[in-house]
Amino acid sequence: MTIHPISVIEKLNGAFGIAGLAKFEAGQGGLTRVAIATPLAEAHIYLHGAHVTHFQPRGEKPVLWVSGSSAFEDGKPIRGGVPICFPWFGGRAGDAASPAHGFVRLRDWKVRSLRALPGGEVELVLALDWSPRTKEMWPGAFEISHTVTVGRQLTMSLHVVNHGQSPMPFEEALHTYFTVGDVRKASVTGLGGVTYIDKVDAMARKTQSAEPITISGETDRVYLATESATAVRDPVMGRRITIEKSGSKTTVVWNPWIEKAKKMADFGDEEWPGMICVETANAGEGSLTLPPGGSHTMTAVIGVAKQ
Ligand code: BG6
Repeated sequence: MTIHPISVIEKLNGAFGIAGLAKFEAGQGGLTRVAIATPLAEAHIYLHGAHVTHFQPRGEKPVLWVSGSSAFEDGKPIRGGVPICFPWFGGRAGDAASPAHGFVRLRDWKVRSLRALPGGEVELVLALDWSPRTKEMWPGAFEISHTVTVGRQLTMSLHVVNHGQSPMPFEEALHTYFTVGDVRKASVTGLGGVTYIDKVDAMARKTQSAEPITISGETDRVYLATESATAVRDPVMGRRITIEKSGSKTTVVWNPWIEKAKKMADFGDEEWPGMICVETANAGEGSLTLPPGGSHTMTAVIGVAKQ
């Protein structure tokens, strides 16, 4: 049950709320979210998918993009913000019926903790465990937790544990949608010389020779074996969004452009110039395998700088 009655929201506030800094509330579509507002920044995080939909350091414009046509309902992903992809990325190999990007973005996560840190940041930890229901979809005995720290920067840390008796292969992504003034004028730095799979050119393997990357058509690229920080330069909004990462060897760059945007029911036809995804991931050739008892953490740190 994704839409919680008021009494559940009150209970969550009683157990975890931080007066004046962080509260649970009914968000879009009535889904429960944590609203954080501090002298440093504001943010919204939905329990549905452990999904960050809003991050705005004080004095800056919103950093994340969310479609005005997004669903906010049980069983559907939110279009924008930071969907969590796990345990597979994109379509599931050999299984067209399974949901794209895995199932954790479609599930309600549990609140583990919410606290104010000494530096003024607020840290929220959400978690999801394997269950007989997830076993029907995927054999892994996983535990996944997402730590979101809201300060001048947005830090997101995805921690995966294998509680099973066999090795657990998986893919993962923090599928981050950024707001840009005009994607045709924006550029992405930090991926020069990196090999990528071009998903809009029959999965051709290419090398990124031009740096920075500019967007002039449908773009869907999986950059391989790269641990580099990247940045989105946005001359229209007069800012640079910085993305530092650790525990991630894949970076995905995506913009659907005109035709693909039209085909997506939860993406406005005219919205594509206002967004770009630069995703922190371990996917495709960069997928991971955890031994029994093993764990892995992937972290992305998002900030805003002057041009
Ligand atoms: C990107 C993929 O990460 O996500 C694209 O590389 C995909 O191929 C896009 O189209 C959006 O996926 P979805 O499932 O949220 O529509």
